[in-house]
Order: sequence, then C-alpha cells, then structure tokens
Amino acid sequence: MVKTKEFTDAPVYTTSNGCPVMNPQAAQRVGDNGPLLLQDFHLIDLLAHFDRERIPERVVHAKGAGAFGEFEVTDDISDLTSAAMFSQVGKKTKALARFSTVGGEKGSPDSARDPRGFAVKFYTEEGNHDWVFNNTPIFFLRDPAKFPVFIHTQKRNPQTNLKDATMFWDYLSQNQESVHQVMHLFSDRGTPFSYRHMHGYSGHTYKFTKPDGSFHYVQIHLKTDQGVKTLTNEEAGALASSNPDHSTEDLFTAIEEGNFPSWTVYCQVMTPEQAEKFKFSIFDLTKTWPQKEFPLRRFGKLTLNKNPENYFAEIEQAAFSPSHTVPGVEPSADPVLQSRLFSYPDTHRHRLGVNYQQIPANCPLAGVAFSPFQRDGFMQVNGNYGANPNYQSSFRPLTFKKVVNHDPHEKWVGSATNFAFRMLDEDYEQPNALWNVLGRTQGQQENFVHNVSVHLKGARKEVRERTYGMFGKVDKALGERIQKATEEEVKKAEEENKKAQPRL
Ligand code: HEM
Repeated sequence: MVKTKEFTDAPVYTTSNGCPVMNPQAAQRVGDNGPLLLQDFHLIDLLAHFDRERIPERVVHAKGAGAFGEFEVTDDISDLTSAAMFSQVGKKTKALARFSTVGGEKGSPDSARDPRGFAVKFYTEEGNHDWVFNNTPIFFLRDPAKFPVFIHTQKRNPQTNLKDATMFWDYLSQNQESVHQVMHLFSDRGTPFSYRHMHGYSGHTYKFTKPDGSFHYVQIHLKTDQGVKTLTNEEAGALASSNPDHSTEDLFTAIEEGNFPSWTVYCQVMTPEQAEKFKFSIFDLTKTWPQKEFPLRRFGKLTLNKNPENYFAEIEQAAFSPSHTVPGVEPSADPVLQSRLFSYPDTHRHRLGVNYQQIPANCPLAGVAFSPFQRDGFMQVNGNYGANPNYQSSFRPLTFKKVVNHDPHEKWVGSATNFAFRMLDEDYEQPNALWNVLGRTQGQQENFVHNVSVHLKGARKEVRERTYGMFGKVDKALGERIQKATEEEVKKAEEENKKAQPRL
C-alpha cells in the first residue's frame, strides 16, 4: 500500500471565508422534509466550488507524475555557459520534475506505448529554467506545422471516438521522417518499466552561451542511474489493466521510501564551425549526433527526493516551457523548438490563466522576477506590483542587465521560403543503425516486429502496404518481416471474427 502523510492536529472546519461550520454534512432546510435554504452559504460554497474543480487537461502529456529534487553540478562547464546554476562544481539548484505519457487522456494507463515526457524546472537565481525533454533523442517531425495534425492521428477518430490504427499509420507512412522515432516507439523502449528507469534527452539542439557572444551547440542527455528497464508489449498490456497508474505509484513509493531516483547529466558539444560543415542540419530533430564524434561530457546529477504535498497544486499546475530560460542557455534555430517557444506559454495561458507564473509551483525564487509592465488579469495574487509604475517611468529607476553580446553567427539572412527539409535516402540511415542496435540484444528485433504487427493489423490494407514500404526503406528484410507478421495477424483476426459471428 502507498504510504501517505499522517496528521495529528484537528483544525476548525470553516466555509471558504473562514466562518466556522457546526455540521458540514447537514444542509439547511425548512423543517424535516422541506426545501433547502438559499442562505446556506456552506452548501452553496461547497457545491459551486465542486462544480468548477476541473481545469482543462494538457492537450498532450495529460497523464503524468512528478516530484521535487535538486540538480548538482558535478563537472565544470564554465567554458561553455555562463548560466549561474552551472557556475560551480558542487552548486545545487532546487528542481521540479514531471514525467508523462503523450497521447492518452488524464486517466490513461502509464504503460501505454508512447514517448514519455521528461520535464524539469530549475528554480535558479537568474529565474526559472525549464528542460522540456522526452525519453527519446529524436522526434516524429521536423516541420512544426505538422505537430497538431500528427497529434490528432495518435488520438481518437473524430467519428468513432476510438483510437484508430488506420489514422495512426496513415500519417506515419505518409510522413516518413517519423520513422526513426517509430523505430524507438515500437521497440521495447516504447514501453519503459517506469519513469525511474528511462533516460531523458533534449532532442533539440540548444545553445550554451557566454557573455562575450561566443556559443556552442549542445544536446543534453539525462542517463538514469537506476538502469534502463523496459516492458514487453504483453507485460505493458497486462499492467494497463492490473495497475494503470504503475509508473505514478513506482515514483511516489520509491521517494517515500528514501530510494531517491537520480540521473547523470551529460552534454554533447559542437562548435558553430563544426555545425556549418556537419553532414546534416543540426536543427533536424529526427536525427541524433554521433557520440563517436561528439562524446558525452558529464556535468551534473538530478536527484528527486521529495514527493508533492498536493498533486494538483504542485504537479497538475506546473507549467513548463522551453522558452523559460536563463542567461547562458538559448534555443537554437531548430524550427520545431522555435514554435514550441510560443506554444507552451500560450497553452498555459489557456489552461491555467494569464498569471500562471504566480502559481507557487511556477513562481521564480523570491526577489528574482520583476516585470511590472505585466499587470492585472485573472488570478492576480502577488500584490500586482503595488505602487510601481506600469510603464518605463522616469521616476522609477530600473536596472537593465547586459546578458550577451551580439554574435556574427546570429545574423540570419535569406528570403522567405517554405520549409526546407525534404525526405532523402540518408534519412533512413539512423533508423537502419537503430535496427542493427536492436539486433545486438537477444529477442529485441523479434519484439519490434511483433509490436508493430499487432498494432498495424488494425489499419486498412493500403495503409499497411505503404507502411511495409516505409520499413523496407529502413531495411529490406525488415519490411518483409513486418509484412509477413502483420498479414498473419490480420488473418488470425479475421478468423477470430468469423468464429465470433453468430451462426444463423
Ligand atoms: C507538453 C506542444 C514537441 C515535450 C506539451 C503541451 C503542448 C505541447 C501544447 C502541453 C503543455 C501544457 O499544457 O502544460 C508541442 C508542440 C511541439 C511539441 C507544438 C512541436 C511543434 C515536443 C517535443 C518534446 C516535447 C519535441 C520533447 C523533446 C513535451 C513535454 C510536455 C509537453 C515533456 C509535458 C510538460 C509537462 O510535464 O507539463 N507540448 N510540443 N514536446 N511537451 Fe510538447
């Protein structure tokens, strides 16, 4: 059984305005059987608040779990970044992490085949810095205009309200830059044992910058110290019914028992000159940087050591964004990352309100934020900057800090154009390499073929065939194996269907 907090005190129960209530379980009424009284503020207060308990769930990553902890710098990276939180070996920064699945609703099973979100908020003295990462080093797309439609195909059919294998594979097989991520998703890595047993990756290229304007491109990796552990398709399916909240429970229980999960944090580093000469665009989110050329450089450890006191207040209301950044860390020109800089604060304003940064889980450390030109709005609760002028006043001095010099690499010149990436043969090279990596562990290629075939069998024939073609471009034999396994599954399903038909 999950151990939860025990209480010893007994506070006086009141209405929301603080008026003591004698009996919270007795509505005021006329006589023993008469109608209720409008003057019963306790009842009205309670019902009206209950009616408004739900806020919109996240449009993606709705199901999640989280905890607090700390980031500690273990190795010097002051040659790369001036960010205060990375400035000294041994320096610790308070952190909040939230893990999630992507496509399912708030009540969906934790063991679903899905990428996992790996979001961390650092409360630094220069403001909050968020890492909004996944457990895979790549993503399904490299043109952000595809994101909403891609997500639609992984959710429910607009007519049937059912998950729909045809939609799912129709999109993926028509947008084959997704295949690298699909190779991850349908290997057993697509069903991690729990949040503690998976890695985290920035996926995108970011920039570590210095005040003199110099910078390096980086990719960030968080490697689990618990070891990677995955589920087979059947184990994940069984957990979905026996304990749909398995990963949530696993994280909470481990922390409650003092078994604090941790991740060792590394970066891969590339100079702007290397990036210009590199064989593919480092702003292409469907590709990884080879570790032989760009080795992992360790710089920190993330440890989670405190469960939330209240899930809704601290985890559901947490609002992460790649645009919540600090001096010394900048987004790269990756177009998917660039559009995420807009999308997250925009959805937070919808989900939590325009003053979402005032919610304690999102609030920067005391005294750090000062943005008095942002005033009023729903749920303004922090004093609204009191008498401070709401414009740049000549009577109220403000200090403006020079954060970074302009750099020649940041001069972008070009004509307005539609998106530039096109599908090339080399786009299948890394998926092919991953297929070969799976071959190094007994049974992993077999599991991959099985995991795809039991899902793909639900798609229409023409979509199945296009998908065989896609996997055939990764590896000819893989395409053939998936075709054979899937068509066998289709036949089996048809026979089972026939058996299930009533005989007339
Ligand atoms: C959550 C948009 C790509 C990681 C979300 C949310 C939106 C969104 C609207 C819900 C946020 C909320 O309600 O709090 C997008 C768009 C993308 C994109 C428009 C591409 C154009 C990615 C990528 C990654 C990622 C590439 C990882 C590398 C996450 C994570 C969360 C999330 C971890 C959950 C954050 C949390 O725990 O609250 N995304 N996303 N997303 N996204 Fe993305």
